[in-house]
Amino acid sequence: MTENQERVGRRLIVTGGAGFIGSNFVRHWCQTYPGDRVVVLDALTYAGNRQNLADLEEKANLRFVKGDICDRSLVDGLLKEETIDTIAHFAAESHVDRSILGPGAFIQTNVVGTFTLLEAFRHHWPTLSTGDGQRPLFLHVSTDEVYGSLGPEDPAFSETTPYAPNSPYSASKAGSDHLARAYYHTYGMPTVITNCSNNYGPYHFPEKLIPLMCINMLLGKQLPVYGDGQNVRDWLYVIDHCRALDVVINKGKPGETYNIGGNNEVKNIDLVKTLCGLMDEMATELPAKPCEKLIAFVKDRPGHDRRYAIDATKIKTELGWEPSVTVEEGLRQTVEWYLTHRDWWEPLLSEEYQSYYRQVYSSGEE
Ligand code: NAD
Ligand code: DAU
Repeated sequence: MTENQERVGRRLIVTGGAGFIGSNFVRHWCQTYPGDRVVVLDALTYAGNRQNLADLEEKANLRFVKGDICDRSLVDGLLKEETIDTIAHFAAESHVDRSILGPGAFIQTNVVGTFTLLEAFRHHWPTLSTGDGQRPLFLHVSTDEVYGSLGPEDPAFSETTPYAPNSPYSASKAGSDHLARAYYHTYGMPTVITNCSNNYGPYHFPEKLIPLMCINMLLGKQLPVYGDGQNVRDWLYVIDHCRALDVVINKGKPGETYNIGGNNEVKNIDLVKTLCGLMDEMATELPAKPCEKLIAFVKDRPGHDRRYAIDATKIKTELGWEPSVTVEEGLRQTVEWYLTHRDWWEPLLSEEYQSYYRQVYSSGEE
Protein backbone atom coordinates (compact mmCIF):
# COMPACT_ATOMS: atom_id res chain seq x y z
CA MET A 1 0.00 0.00 0.00
CA THR A 2 1.46 3.40 -0.95
CA GLU A 3 1.22 6.24 1.57
CA ASN A 4 -1.55 8.17 -0.16
CA GLN A 5 -3.61 5.09 -0.95
CA GLU A 6 -6.52 4.84 1.50
CA ARG A 7 -6.52 1.74 3.67
CA VAL A 8 -9.51 -0.55 3.18
CA GLY A 9 -10.99 -1.40 6.57
CA ARG A 10 -11.17 -4.95 7.83
CA ARG A 11 -13.96 -6.84 9.54
CA LEU A 12 -12.36 -9.28 11.94
CA ILE A 13 -13.33 -12.12 14.21
CA VAL A 14 -10.76 -12.43 16.98
CA THR A 15 -11.11 -15.84 18.59
CA GLY A 16 -9.77 -16.03 22.15
CA GLY A 17 -9.92 -12.22 22.32
CA ALA A 18 -10.58 -12.30 26.08
CA GLY A 19 -7.33 -14.19 26.79
CA PHE A 20 -3.84 -12.82 27.35
CA ILE A 21 -2.50 -12.20 23.84
CA GLY A 22 -5.95 -11.93 22.23
CA SER A 23 -7.01 -9.05 24.48
CA ASN A 24 -3.73 -7.21 23.94
CA PHE A 25 -4.25 -7.71 20.20
CA VAL A 26 -7.84 -6.40 20.32
CA ARG A 27 -6.62 -3.32 22.21
CA HIS A 28 -3.83 -2.79 19.67
CA TRP A 29 -6.20 -3.21 16.72
CA CYS A 30 -8.99 -0.98 18.08
CA GLN A 31 -6.49 1.77 18.86
CA THR A 32 -4.63 1.50 15.55
CA TYR A 33 -7.65 1.00 13.25
CA PRO A 34 -10.63 2.58 15.07
CA GLY A 35 -12.80 2.28 11.96
CA ASP A 36 -12.46 -1.50 11.68
CA ARG A 37 -15.13 -3.91 12.93
CA VAL A 38 -13.86 -6.32 15.61
CA VAL A 39 -15.96 -9.25 16.81
CA VAL A 40 -14.46 -11.13 19.75
CA LEU A 41 -15.50 -14.79 19.93
CA ASP A 42 -14.47 -16.31 23.25
CA ALA A 43 -15.84 -19.18 25.34
CA LEU A 44 -14.59 -17.54 28.57
CA THR A 45 -12.86 -20.65 29.87
CA TYR A 46 -10.87 -20.33 33.12
CA ALA A 47 -8.27 -18.37 31.06
CA GLY A 48 -10.73 -15.98 29.43
CA ASN A 49 -11.73 -12.83 31.25
CA ARG A 50 -14.04 -10.09 30.05
CA GLN A 51 -12.26 -7.69 32.40
CA ASN A 52 -9.31 -7.88 29.99
CA LEU A 53 -11.41 -5.87 27.53
CA ALA A 54 -13.22 -3.66 30.06
CA ASP A 55 -11.62 -0.42 28.82
CA LEU A 56 -12.72 -1.19 25.24
CA GLU A 57 -16.29 -2.37 25.71
CA GLU A 58 -17.74 1.07 24.98
CA LYS A 59 -16.26 1.06 21.49
CA ALA A 60 -19.07 1.01 18.95
CA ASN A 61 -17.06 -1.15 16.55
CA LEU A 62 -16.32 -3.88 19.09
CA ARG A 63 -18.75 -6.73 19.72
CA PHE A 64 -18.23 -9.48 22.28
CA VAL A 65 -19.77 -12.91 21.67
CA LYS A 66 -19.48 -15.60 24.31
CA GLY A 67 -19.25 -18.87 22.40
CA ASP A 68 -17.20 -21.90 21.47
CA ILE A 69 -15.10 -22.07 18.29
CA CYS A 70 -16.28 -25.69 17.97
CA ASP A 71 -19.86 -24.46 17.44
CA ARG A 72 -20.08 -24.48 13.65
CA SER A 73 -23.51 -22.89 13.32
CA LEU A 74 -22.50 -20.02 15.62
CA VAL A 75 -19.33 -19.43 13.59
CA ASP A 76 -21.18 -19.65 10.26
CA GLY A 77 -23.79 -17.18 11.51
CA LEU A 78 -21.19 -14.64 12.67
CA LEU A 79 -19.17 -14.85 9.46
CA LYS A 80 -22.26 -14.14 7.40
CA GLU A 81 -24.01 -11.60 9.60
CA GLU A 82 -20.85 -9.53 10.10
CA THR A 83 -19.43 -10.05 6.58
CA ILE A 84 -16.16 -11.04 8.19
CA ASP A 85 -13.08 -10.93 5.94
CA THR A 86 -10.41 -11.78 8.52
CA ILE A 87 -10.17 -14.40 11.23
CA ALA A 88 -7.40 -13.79 13.77
CA HIS A 89 -7.38 -17.12 15.57
CA PHE A 90 -5.94 -17.05 19.09
CA ALA A 91 -8.42 -19.27 20.95
CA ALA A 92 -6.67 -22.28 22.45
CA GLU A 93 -5.96 -24.23 25.55
CA SER A 94 -2.50 -22.76 26.07
CA HIS A 95 -0.85 -24.09 29.24
CA VAL A 96 1.60 -27.00 28.96
CA ASP A 97 1.15 -28.15 32.58
CA ARG A 98 -2.64 -28.39 32.13
CA SER A 99 -2.13 -30.39 28.92
CA ILE A 100 -0.13 -32.92 30.92
CA LEU A 101 -2.90 -33.21 33.53
CA GLY A 102 -5.70 -33.47 30.92
CA PRO A 103 -4.97 -33.46 27.18
CA GLY A 104 -8.60 -33.92 26.04
CA ALA A 105 -9.58 -30.25 26.09
CA PHE A 106 -6.45 -29.44 24.06
CA ILE A 107 -7.44 -31.79 21.26
CA GLN A 108 -11.00 -30.47 21.31
CA THR A 109 -10.26 -26.74 21.18
CA ASN A 110 -6.90 -26.65 19.44
CA VAL A 111 -7.52 -29.32 16.80
CA VAL A 112 -11.31 -29.69 16.44
CA GLY A 113 -11.91 -25.98 17.10
CA THR A 114 -9.36 -24.88 14.50
CA PHE A 115 -10.79 -27.38 12.02
CA THR A 116 -14.28 -25.97 12.64
CA LEU A 117 -13.10 -22.42 11.95
CA LEU A 118 -11.19 -23.46 8.83
CA GLU A 119 -14.22 -25.30 7.46
CA ALA A 120 -16.51 -22.36 8.16
CA PHE A 121 -14.11 -19.90 6.50
CA ARG A 122 -13.59 -22.22 3.52
CA HIS A 123 -17.26 -21.90 2.68
CA HIS A 124 -17.49 -18.23 3.59
CA TRP A 125 -14.55 -16.41 2.04
CA PRO A 126 -15.45 -17.05 -1.62
CA THR A 127 -18.76 -15.23 -0.99
CA LEU A 128 -16.94 -11.96 -0.14
CA SER A 129 -16.70 -9.28 -2.78
CA THR A 130 -12.98 -8.59 -3.03
CA GLY A 131 -13.25 -6.10 -5.90
CA ASP A 132 -13.00 -3.15 -3.50
CA GLY A 133 -9.53 -4.14 -2.32
CA GLN A 134 -10.40 -6.36 0.65
CA ARG A 135 -8.04 -9.26 1.30
CA PRO A 136 -9.69 -12.20 3.07
CA LEU A 137 -7.32 -13.84 5.53
CA PHE A 138 -7.22 -16.61 8.12
CA LEU A 139 -4.41 -15.85 10.56
CA HIS A 140 -3.53 -18.91 12.61
CA VAL A 141 -1.59 -17.88 15.73
CA SER A 142 0.74 -20.65 16.82
CA THR A 143 3.80 -21.34 18.88
CA ASP A 144 7.50 -22.13 18.64
CA GLU A 145 6.84 -25.23 20.80
CA VAL A 146 5.81 -27.16 17.66
CA TYR A 147 9.52 -27.32 16.73
CA GLY A 148 10.47 -29.24 19.87
CA SER A 149 13.53 -28.69 22.03
CA LEU A 150 16.96 -27.25 21.12
CA GLY A 151 20.37 -28.26 22.45
CA PRO A 152 22.63 -25.48 23.77
CA GLU A 153 24.53 -25.05 20.50
CA ASP A 154 21.69 -25.66 18.02
CA PRO A 155 20.68 -22.86 15.67
CA ALA A 156 17.40 -21.12 16.51
CA PHE A 157 14.12 -22.40 14.99
CA SER A 158 13.49 -21.18 11.46
CA GLU A 159 10.34 -21.60 9.35
CA THR A 160 11.87 -24.74 7.81
CA THR A 161 12.77 -26.49 11.07
CA PRO A 162 10.95 -29.85 11.13
CA TYR A 163 8.08 -30.18 13.59
CA ALA A 164 8.84 -32.25 16.72
CA PRO A 165 6.24 -31.39 19.38
CA ASN A 166 6.85 -32.92 22.81
CA SER A 167 3.80 -32.08 24.94
CA PRO A 168 0.10 -32.71 24.35
CA TYR A 169 -0.24 -28.91 24.07
CA SER A 170 2.42 -28.53 21.38
CA ALA A 171 1.21 -31.65 19.56
CA SER A 172 -2.30 -30.22 19.40
CA LYS A 173 -0.95 -26.90 18.10
CA ALA A 174 1.16 -28.75 15.53
CA GLY A 175 -1.96 -30.59 14.36
CA SER A 176 -3.81 -27.31 13.94
CA ASP A 177 -0.86 -25.76 12.05
CA HIS A 178 -0.88 -28.67 9.61
CA LEU A 179 -4.59 -28.20 9.01
CA ALA A 180 -4.18 -24.47 8.35
CA ARG A 181 -1.35 -25.22 5.94
CA ALA A 182 -3.38 -27.91 4.15
CA TYR A 183 -6.32 -25.54 3.62
CA TYR A 184 -4.05 -23.22 1.66
CA HIS A 185 -2.50 -25.99 -0.43
CA THR A 186 -5.70 -27.93 -1.07
CA TYR A 187 -8.38 -25.26 -1.30
CA GLY A 188 -6.34 -22.13 -2.01
CA MET A 189 -7.75 -20.60 1.16
CA PRO A 190 -5.70 -17.54 2.24
CA THR A 191 -4.15 -18.75 5.48
CA VAL A 192 -1.04 -17.47 7.22
CA ILE A 193 0.61 -19.19 10.19
CA THR A 194 2.71 -17.44 12.82
CA ASN A 195 4.90 -19.32 15.29
CA CYS A 196 5.85 -17.18 18.25
CA SER A 197 8.11 -17.53 21.28
CA ASN A 198 7.11 -16.95 24.92
CA ASN A 199 5.10 -13.78 25.43
CA TYR A 200 4.88 -11.75 28.63
CA GLY A 201 3.23 -8.49 29.71
CA PRO A 202 -0.12 -7.22 31.00
CA TYR A 203 -3.17 -9.53 31.42
CA HIS A 204 -1.01 -12.70 31.56
CA PHE A 205 -2.95 -15.38 33.47
CA PRO A 206 -1.39 -16.22 36.89
CA GLU A 207 -0.49 -19.85 36.03
CA LYS A 208 2.35 -18.87 33.64
CA LEU A 209 5.94 -18.37 34.84
CA ILE A 210 6.26 -14.57 34.95
CA PRO A 211 2.88 -13.65 36.48
CA LEU A 212 3.09 -16.62 38.86
CA MET A 213 6.45 -15.40 40.17
CA CYS A 214 5.27 -11.77 40.50
CA ILE A 215 2.09 -12.78 42.32
CA ASN A 216 3.83 -15.27 44.62
CA MET A 217 6.37 -12.60 45.60
CA LEU A 218 3.55 -10.22 46.46
CA LEU A 219 1.92 -12.96 48.57
CA GLY A 220 5.19 -14.11 50.18
CA LYS A 221 4.78 -17.60 48.66
CA GLN A 222 7.40 -20.03 47.40
CA LEU A 223 8.79 -19.34 43.88
CA PRO A 224 8.75 -22.81 42.28
CA VAL A 225 11.48 -23.28 39.66
CA TYR A 226 11.20 -26.55 37.75
CA GLY A 227 14.19 -28.93 37.67
CA ASP A 228 17.58 -27.22 37.65
CA GLY A 229 16.23 -23.90 36.33
CA GLN A 230 18.58 -24.04 33.34
CA ASN A 231 15.79 -24.28 30.70
CA VAL A 232 15.90 -21.41 28.23
CA ARG A 233 12.98 -19.44 26.78
CA ASP A 234 13.06 -16.60 24.22
CA TRP A 235 10.93 -13.81 25.73
CA LEU A 236 8.84 -11.39 23.66
CA TYR A 237 6.85 -8.47 25.04
CA VAL A 238 3.21 -9.06 24.10
CA ILE A 239 2.75 -5.63 22.50
CA ASP A 240 5.63 -6.40 20.13
CA HIS A 241 3.87 -9.66 19.23
CA CYS A 242 0.68 -7.71 18.44
CA ARG A 243 2.66 -5.33 16.21
CA ALA A 244 4.09 -8.32 14.39
CA LEU A 245 0.63 -9.81 13.84
CA ASP A 246 -0.59 -6.45 12.52
CA VAL A 247 2.22 -6.48 9.94
CA VAL A 248 1.46 -10.09 9.01
CA ILE A 249 -2.26 -9.36 8.54
CA ASN A 250 -1.55 -6.30 6.41
CA LYS A 251 1.48 -7.46 4.45
CA GLY A 252 1.92 -11.22 4.95
CA LYS A 253 1.72 -13.58 2.01
CA PRO A 254 -1.02 -16.25 2.04
CA GLY A 255 0.39 -19.76 2.40
CA GLU A 256 3.44 -18.51 4.32
CA THR A 257 4.64 -19.10 7.85
CA TYR A 258 6.38 -16.37 9.87
CA ASN A 259 8.39 -17.00 13.03
CA ILE A 260 8.14 -14.25 15.64
CA GLY A 261 10.61 -13.97 18.51
CA GLY A 262 12.14 -11.56 20.94
CA ASN A 263 15.86 -12.27 20.51
CA ASN A 264 15.90 -12.58 24.28
CA GLU A 265 17.06 -16.02 25.37
CA VAL A 266 17.11 -16.26 29.16
CA LYS A 267 17.56 -19.18 31.56
CA ASN A 268 14.56 -19.58 33.84
CA ILE A 269 16.59 -19.17 37.03
CA ASP A 270 18.15 -15.95 35.75
CA LEU A 271 14.75 -14.61 34.77
CA VAL A 272 13.32 -15.39 38.21
CA LYS A 273 16.28 -13.72 39.93
CA THR A 274 15.83 -10.62 37.75
CA LEU A 275 12.15 -10.48 38.72
CA CYS A 276 13.14 -10.81 42.39
CA GLY A 277 15.53 -7.86 42.07
CA LEU A 278 12.89 -5.72 40.35
CA MET A 279 10.26 -6.57 42.94
CA ASP A 280 12.65 -5.81 45.84
CA GLU A 281 13.33 -2.43 44.25
CA MET A 282 9.82 -1.48 43.12
CA ALA A 283 7.39 -2.81 45.76
CA THR A 284 6.87 -0.55 48.75
CA GLU A 285 5.83 -3.46 50.98
CA LEU A 286 6.65 -7.15 50.65
CA PRO A 287 5.87 -10.07 52.96
CA ALA A 288 9.38 -11.53 52.40
CA LYS A 289 12.48 -9.64 51.36
CA PRO A 290 14.77 -10.19 49.53
CA CYS A 291 12.44 -12.16 47.26
CA GLU A 292 15.27 -14.51 46.22
CA LYS A 293 14.92 -16.32 49.53
CA LEU A 294 11.53 -17.60 48.30
CA ILE A 295 13.09 -19.48 45.35
CA ALA A 296 12.63 -23.26 45.58
CA PHE A 297 13.72 -25.85 43.02
CA VAL A 298 10.78 -28.22 42.57
CA LYS A 299 10.05 -31.43 40.68
CA ASP A 300 10.53 -30.92 36.93
CA ARG A 301 7.70 -30.74 34.38
CA PRO A 302 7.50 -34.14 32.58
CA GLY A 303 9.02 -33.89 29.08
CA HIS A 304 10.21 -30.34 29.84
CA ASP A 305 11.70 -28.81 26.66
CA ARG A 306 15.21 -27.58 27.39
CA ARG A 307 15.56 -24.61 25.08
CA TYR A 308 13.49 -22.55 22.63
CA ALA A 309 14.93 -19.83 20.39
CA ILE A 310 13.41 -18.16 17.35
CA ASP A 311 15.18 -17.00 14.24
CA ALA A 312 12.98 -14.07 13.17
CA THR A 313 15.01 -13.12 10.09
CA LYS A 314 12.18 -13.79 7.64
CA ILE A 315 9.62 -11.44 9.18
CA LYS A 316 12.33 -8.79 9.55
CA THR A 317 13.60 -8.95 5.98
CA GLU A 318 10.27 -9.60 4.22
CA LEU A 319 7.84 -7.55 6.33
CA GLY A 320 10.12 -5.13 8.19
CA TRP A 321 9.13 -6.12 11.75
CA GLU A 322 11.49 -6.45 14.70
CA PRO A 323 10.93 -6.31 18.45
CA SER A 324 11.17 -2.86 20.02
CA VAL A 325 11.04 -3.58 23.76
CA THR A 326 14.15 -4.94 25.50
CA VAL A 327 13.64 -7.64 28.10
CA GLU A 328 14.93 -5.25 30.81
CA GLU A 329 12.28 -2.62 29.95
CA GLY A 330 9.53 -5.19 29.37
CA LEU A 331 10.09 -6.97 32.69
CA ARG A 332 10.14 -3.66 34.57
CA GLN A 333 6.83 -2.64 32.96
CA THR A 334 5.36 -6.05 33.71
CA VAL A 335 6.36 -6.00 37.39
CA GLU A 336 4.86 -2.50 37.61
CA TRP A 337 1.63 -3.80 36.03
CA TYR A 338 1.24 -6.66 38.54
CA LEU A 339 2.05 -4.26 41.39
CA THR A 340 -0.68 -1.86 40.31
CA HIS A 341 -3.32 -4.40 39.18
CA ARG A 342 -3.96 -6.46 42.28
CA ASP A 343 -7.70 -5.95 41.65
CA TRP A 344 -7.22 -7.78 38.32
CA TRP A 345 -5.24 -10.79 39.51
CA GLU A 346 -6.59 -11.41 43.01
CA PRO A 347 -10.04 -12.67 41.82
CA LEU A 348 -8.28 -15.09 39.43
CA LEU A 349 -6.80 -17.05 42.34
CA SER A 350 -10.09 -18.94 42.54
CA GLU A 351 -10.85 -22.34 44.08
CA GLU A 352 -10.35 -23.87 40.61
CA TYR A 353 -6.94 -22.20 40.39
CA GLN A 354 -5.95 -23.34 43.90
CA SER A 355 -6.93 -26.90 43.05
CA TYR A 356 -4.91 -26.79 39.82
CA TYR A 357 -1.98 -25.31 41.77
CA ARG A 358 -2.07 -28.10 44.36
CA GLN A 359 -2.05 -30.76 41.62
CA VAL A 360 1.03 -29.31 39.90
CA TYR A 361 3.05 -28.14 42.89
CA SER A 362 2.08 -30.45 45.75
CA SER A 363 5.04 -32.78 45.28
CA GLY A 364 7.15 -30.02 46.83
CA GLU A 365 10.83 -29.21 46.73
CA GLU A 366 13.42 -31.46 45.05
P1 NAD B 1 -4.83 -17.80 26.95
O1 NAD B 1 -4.93 -19.14 27.56
O2 NAD B 1 -4.47 -16.63 27.80
O3 NAD B 1 -6.23 -17.42 26.24
C1 NAD B 1 -6.95 -18.33 25.47
C2 NAD B 1 -8.32 -17.73 25.20
O4 NAD B 1 -9.05 -18.64 24.37
C3 NAD B 1 -9.16 -17.53 26.48
O5 NAD B 1 -9.78 -16.27 26.44
C4 NAD B 1 -10.20 -18.65 26.40
O6 NAD B 1 -11.42 -18.32 27.04
C5 NAD B 1 -10.35 -18.80 24.90
N1 NAD B 1 -10.84 -20.14 24.53
C6 NAD B 1 -10.34 -21.34 24.93
N2 NAD B 1 -11.06 -22.34 24.39
C7 NAD B 1 -12.00 -21.77 23.60
C8 NAD B 1 -13.01 -22.27 22.75
N3 NAD B 1 -13.21 -23.60 22.62
N4 NAD B 1 -13.78 -21.41 22.07
C9 NAD B 1 -13.60 -20.06 22.20
N5 NAD B 1 -12.66 -19.52 23.01
C10 NAD B 1 -11.87 -20.36 23.70
O7 NAD B 1 -3.82 -17.96 25.72
P2 NAD B 1 -2.71 -16.94 25.19
O8 NAD B 1 -1.48 -17.10 25.99
O9 NAD B 1 -3.31 -15.62 25.02
O10 NAD B 1 -2.42 -17.60 23.75
C11 NAD B 1 -3.18 -17.20 22.61
C12 NAD B 1 -2.70 -17.99 21.42
O11 NAD B 1 -1.33 -17.74 21.18
C13 NAD B 1 -2.81 -19.50 21.59
O12 NAD B 1 -3.22 -20.05 20.36
C14 NAD B 1 -1.40 -19.95 21.93
O13 NAD B 1 -1.17 -21.26 21.50
C15 NAD B 1 -0.60 -18.94 21.16
N6 NAD B 1 0.73 -18.62 21.70
C16 NAD B 1 0.87 -18.23 23.00
C17 NAD B 1 2.12 -17.87 23.47
C18 NAD B 1 2.32 -17.40 24.90
O14 NAD B 1 3.47 -17.20 25.31
N7 NAD B 1 1.28 -17.18 25.69
C19 NAD B 1 3.23 -17.92 22.63
C20 NAD B 1 3.06 -18.35 21.31
C21 NAD B 1 1.79 -18.68 20.85
O1 DAU C 1 6.97 -20.90 23.65
C1 DAU C 1 5.67 -20.44 23.51
C2 DAU C 1 4.81 -21.01 24.60
O2 DAU C 1 5.16 -20.32 25.80
C3 DAU C 1 3.33 -20.90 24.33
O3 DAU C 1 3.00 -21.67 23.21
C4 DAU C 1 2.51 -21.38 25.54
O4 DAU C 1 1.13 -21.16 25.31
C5 DAU C 1 2.96 -20.61 26.76
O5 DAU C 1 2.28 -21.09 27.91
C6 DAU C 1 4.46 -20.72 26.95
O6 DAU C 1 4.81 -22.08 27.28
P1 DAU C 1 5.93 -22.42 28.38
O7 DAU C 1 5.69 -23.77 28.89
O8 DAU C 1 7.29 -22.08 27.89
O9 DAU C 1 5.55 -21.28 29.47
P2 DAU C 1 5.42 -21.31 31.07
O10 DAU C 1 5.18 -19.91 31.52
O11 DAU C 1 4.48 -22.35 31.55
O12 DAU C 1 6.88 -21.74 31.51
C7 DAU C 1 8.03 -21.02 31.12
C8 DAU C 1 9.25 -21.77 31.64
O13 DAU C 1 9.26 -21.70 33.08
C9 DAU C 1 9.26 -23.24 31.30
O14 DAU C 1 10.59 -23.65 31.08
C10 DAU C 1 8.72 -23.91 32.57
C11 DAU C 1 9.22 -23.00 33.67
N1 DAU C 1 8.35 -22.88 34.87
C12 DAU C 1 7.03 -22.59 34.68
C13 DAU C 1 6.19 -22.48 35.75
C14 DAU C 1 4.72 -22.16 35.57
C15 DAU C 1 8.88 -23.04 36.15
O15 DAU C 1 10.10 -23.28 36.30
N2 DAU C 1 8.05 -22.92 37.20
C16 DAU C 1 6.71 -22.66 37.08
O16 DAU C 1 6.00 -22.59 38.11
